[in-house]
Amino acid sequence: MDIKILKEAALKFGTPIYLYDLKIIENQFKKLNKELSVLENYKIHFAAKSLSNISILKFISKLGAGLDAVSIEEVKIGLKCGFNKNEILYTPNGVSFEEIKEAFKLGVKINLDSIECIKDFINEFGSQSITVRINPGIYAGGNENVSVGHPESKFGIPETRINELLDMEIKGKIKITGLHIHTGSDITKNNQFKEGIKKIFSIARDFKNIKSIDLGGGIKIPYYDDDTSTNLNDYVKEVSNELNKFESEFNKKLKLIFEPGKFLVSDCGFFITKVNYIKSSNAKDFIQVDSGFNHLLRPTLYGSYHEIVNLSNPEGKKKEYDVVGYICEKDTFAYKRKISETKKGDLICFKNAGAYGFTMSSNYNSRSRPAEVCLLDNKLHKIRETETIDDLLSGQIDIFN
Ligand code: LLP
Repeated sequence: MDIKILKEAALKFGTPIYLYDLKIIENQFKKLNKELSVLENYKIHFAAKSLSNISILKFISKLGAGLDAVSIEEVKIGLKCGFNKNEILYTPNGVSFEEIKEAFKLGVKINLDSIECIKDFINEFGSQSITVRINPGIYAGGNENVSVGHPESKFGIPETRINELLDMEIKGKIKITGLHIHTGSDITKNNQFKEGIKKIFSIARDFKNIKSIDLGGGIKIPYYDDDTSTNLNDYVKEVSNELNKFESEFNKKLKLIFEPGKFLVSDCGFFITKVNYIKSSNAKDFIQVDSGFNHLLRPTLYGSYHEIVNLSNPEGKKKEYDVVGYICEKDTFAYKRKISETKKGDLICFKNAGAYGFTMSSNYNSRSRPAEVCLLDNKLHKIRETETIDDLLSGQIDIFN
């Protein structure tokens, strides 16, 4: 995005601020559709957890995507934003059965990930058509926190319990119309994707009522110039091969579902902060910005890399800094990062902040969460106010008043 616009947003709406370029989301959506177009019947379900502002969700709904929701709140927000109930796939993990009941009654598609809750579901609603999440037993994903398809993971029905599922189906207790896997986020190795694809198509052979296969998210996008990314062409080829084999062997057509989060919205997001101080200490210089891991958690939680640009001096001579926040514990966005020479008051921008940026923010240290702004047709629109002290206090009960 043009630096002028990033600076304009910071000037107009203040810092810190999240800015999303909707054109980038649209381009990513088109790019993915182009790659997937060799598959006849597919649907992209946007992973709401990655960026859930209602204006963004409405925009993505208008592009023609469905929604991947993991909580009843995401389901309700999705319905409010115009997603059709049969375009919302609800994939809970470890939630109360009350919540699953509520989602079913709202009419969205139910994708269950444990034999235990499928039993409750059958007791409550009798024989229904549902889809199920399988744990394929594969290690995949950029780091341990986001690798969720391996044998030790809490997600999905383990292969060792698929017999129980098939038994329930044979006895007419439930109809399994689709299988789902999501092995991890930031999947760097294409063979990990391949392994998952092969595994799920092979498991699908035993399910007589199967109509769809959902391959989850996990497409890796680059966070810096030489960073790796998923080879989409290879990925789609693998899906297409397995699909063709399956369809010709069983003489039936399957629908495929994809649930990208990062691929659609990571790149569109810019998190802009202002430098409070340059602090020199023990032979290093800290850039202290007016934010912290309460606003952008990924670097602290996962050691994730976000490219950092000094918008006020983009072409300046590079110097090495630690970029830190104001939270009262280790709060480092980047260590020993080469950034154009920076001074107090400069605007510092974190790139690739669209996915899991704002949605993972918090009020730690009683800090307000920042405003969100989007760029649509060359115009900036505020899509969330900065929280006020009243927002922070709302809902709290003062028993001494
Ligand atoms: N489908 C399911 C069932 C998921 O759990 C996820 C992400 C996705 C799709 C989308 O995955 P994506 O395409 O965005 O990789 N907070 C972490 C990422 C956590 C991903 C959780 N599940 C991060 O900031 O790296």
